Amino acid sequence: MIQITDNNAFHLQTNNTSYVIKVLESGHIGQLYYGRRIHNRDTYDSLYSNFSRDLEVGTAYSKATKGFTLESTRLEVGESGKGDYREPSVRLVYEDGTRTTDFNYQDHHLYTGKEPLEGLPATFCNEDSVQTLDITLKDEVADVELVISYSVFEEADVITRSAKIINGSKQPIRIEKLMSMNFDIHGKNFDIMTLDGRWVKECNINRRPLSKGTFYIDSKRGVSSSEHNPFMALLSNKADELTGDVYGFGLIYSGNHKAAVELSSLNIARIQMGISDHDFTWDLECSESFQTPEVVMTFSHMGLGQMSRNFHKIIEHNLVQKQWQNKIRPVLINNWEATYFDFDEKKLMALAKEAVKLGIELFVLDDGWFGRRNDSTSSLGDWDVNLKKLPSGLKKFGKNLNKMGLDFGLWVEPEMVSINSDLYRSHPEWAIQIPGRQPSLGRTQLVLDLSREDVVDYLYNKLSDLFRKSKVSYVKWDMNRNFSDLYSPRLDSKHQQEQSHRYVLGLYNLLERLTNEFPQILFESCASGGNRFDMGMLYYMPQTWTSDNTDAVERMDIQYGTSILYPLSTMGAHVSDSPSSQVLRQTPLETRFNVAAFGLLGYELDLTKLNAFEKKVIKKQITYYKKHRQLLQFGHLYRIQSPFDDNIMQWMVVNEEKTEALFGYYQKLQQTVSGLEQMRMVGLNADSFYKVTAREMSMNIRQFGNLINEVLPVKIKAHSIPHTILSNHYEFKTESEEVSAYGSELMYAGMALKAQYSSNGYNEDVRHIGDFGSRVYYVELDKSHT
Ligand code: DGJ
Repeated sequence: MIQITDNNAFHLQTNNTSYVIKVLESGHIGQLYYGRRIHNRDTYDSLYSNFSRDLEVGTAYSKATKGFTLESTRLEVGESGKGDYREPSVRLVYEDGTRTTDFNYQDHHLYTGKEPLEGLPATFCNEDSVQTLDITLKDEVADVELVISYSVFEEADVITRSAKIINGSKQPIRIEKLMSMNFDIHGKNFDIMTLDGRWVKECNINRRPLSKGTFYIDSKRGVSSSEHNPFMALLSNKADELTGDVYGFGLIYSGNHKAAVELSSLNIARIQMGISDHDFTWDLECSESFQTPEVVMTFSHMGLGQMSRNFHKIIEHNLVQKQWQNKIRPVLINNWEATYFDFDEKKLMALAKEAVKLGIELFVLDDGWFGRRNDSTSSLGDWDVNLKKLPSGLKKFGKNLNKMGLDFGLWVEPEMVSINSDLYRSHPEWAIQIPGRQPSLGRTQLVLDLSREDVVDYLYNKLSDLFRKSKVSYVKWDMNRNFSDLYSPRLDSKHQQEQSHRYVLGLYNLLERLTNEFPQILFESCASGGNRFDMGMLYYMPQTWTSDNTDAVERMDIQYGTSILYPLSTMGAHVSDSPSSQVLRQTPLETRFNVAAFGLLGYELDLTKLNAFEKKVIKKQITYYKKHRQLLQFGHLYRIQSPFDDNIMQWMVVNEEKTEALFGYYQKLQQTVSGLEQMRMVGLNADSFYKVTAREMSMNIRQFGNLINEVLPVKIKAHSIPHTILSNHYEFKTESEEVSAYGSELMYAGMALKAQYSSNGYNEDVRHIGDFGSRVYYVELDKSHT
């Protein structure tokens, strides 16, 4: 709820947090407090502090406000020209060339619910408890308004923010920078956390202390990028997964973005987030307006874990479209790593046949089905089936899959064009490039200029026709390069720097139309994996291909890092071949599953090459996943031990009622005498009595090498042909572990695990986890306990 006091203080309250702002005497909006929930009061003046009186060299804002200086004040909008020397959140250039702005309180409007943001994805409300506050500020001299909007989501402990400039003047104005959010907080004992990476190494967790000066992350690539996810958190120095104050900020946007934090000499930390001001300007004619994307803010006094769960909640309930909320996702086979470009109908059907036998539900036909696409150098843009590869056409191919019991999914990369394509030959002006310059290529392709309406209309018609005719139930929407050579013939020179944002608006327009027309199609977004894993895309497409790196060990880091902001229900995760294509690492099949199972499970390997052992194992994996997928996809996630800090990674998912959970335990390298282990759980009900059972898994007996005869009832020669034959067929079961205990024991004392193998011989009281080994434990209420 939002409380407004007589002297215009606004108390935005969620179940566990309070955000208090106030109209200051100067007319600016002051930030008074953000943190744990406090009581409603008639006034919040006691929370206001300012250093003005102590300053000798400050620039006094106005005569009327005496010694008041903006730079010593915590503000909701940062401006330049009136004595605030920190980073501005709004920078305008007026017709007369002046850059000083002075936005002061005009009025406010409070209402129940939330209006959509024009042309942009944003959170929406399902429940009546959402309230929105629009505060209108005005630069009187220039006759320009700035509206800052706040929406309060009580249940998720989330407040969203955005900003809008309305040019009421008779002159055009230029926006050089307009951040969605400016938030000033007092204090310096914070760490900054960001999610950084690159291709096949997305979402590494980085944490460093806040220090004087400005730190920022951004994207200049045109997409939100795997370099820096549009996310930043400010954590009290001692905060960890379970304790401490954490402020989290995420941007609902898929293009160039920026998140900055500046610690001033007065120890005010200013955090900003929004569209990057790099290569960005926007010209507003009279009575035009500009809307920023939305920032999702959350605060947790219970550490990083709770911050993540708040984000997960809002994404799952207020961002992902209703038809996909809580809707279980199919187990899929994707032919990319199984065949790459080298396939024909026969090969695909053989793959599909195996997939059905294993229990897979959806067949995804990846890159290479169209035009003359036999490698990555041609045909993007020519979205007509290659009849040499698929003689019966897409529709028939899909029908055949359906007859076998599989749904049909298709890969497209619509935002791109190959120079060697019919589309490029007929419309070279549709590709982003500069006349007279050789364009720089990414993966030998160019980006289509989605800032143009005609290009967006063309794509809409082409794709809707394709989706309608091929009757697909799933689409993987790929995007495999960053921007270069920016120029659009449709924009005059004054508007050229609007192209990147106009591109994003064009993309959103296209997605809005397609997803409205095909609400039943499950869209998965992808950009060379996680190069555009962001909340903007999740609004249209409820899931994302997390990374092109399918190596299970690398995936531990990637998925763990991604979960800082994004829920498991958004993360595509596949079991691929061993050795993995990305690092040539050999990883046990069960670990490949145990990693992928905490997400949206798929298989991406040549199933026709599996041996009997692998087939039996995969079949069981899929059965197990299907049984528990509601929990694995939509359970509440608790991270316990980070793969970034340790050799072991642990996390678990718990259902809403706390009656069941699944625990994932993963080891990077085997160590001798690794010590006794107590597996401590989180998120359970302390008073409930649970039974914990390890998932029964199968080991490949090749792992035992020369010691094979220590574990088998029959004698065979190590490394002999019988050893190989046996290992291709025989399912050697992992140790069984089962415990019944109160939630309090499992959480506070932990479950005592069997000792790991350590040259002490193997028997049923030993866990042989090995390099890249793992376990999954199922936790349920123990009904036998009275
Ligand atoms: C990049 C994607 O991330 C891969 O999964 C695959 O679809 C390829 N593109 C196909 O070109």
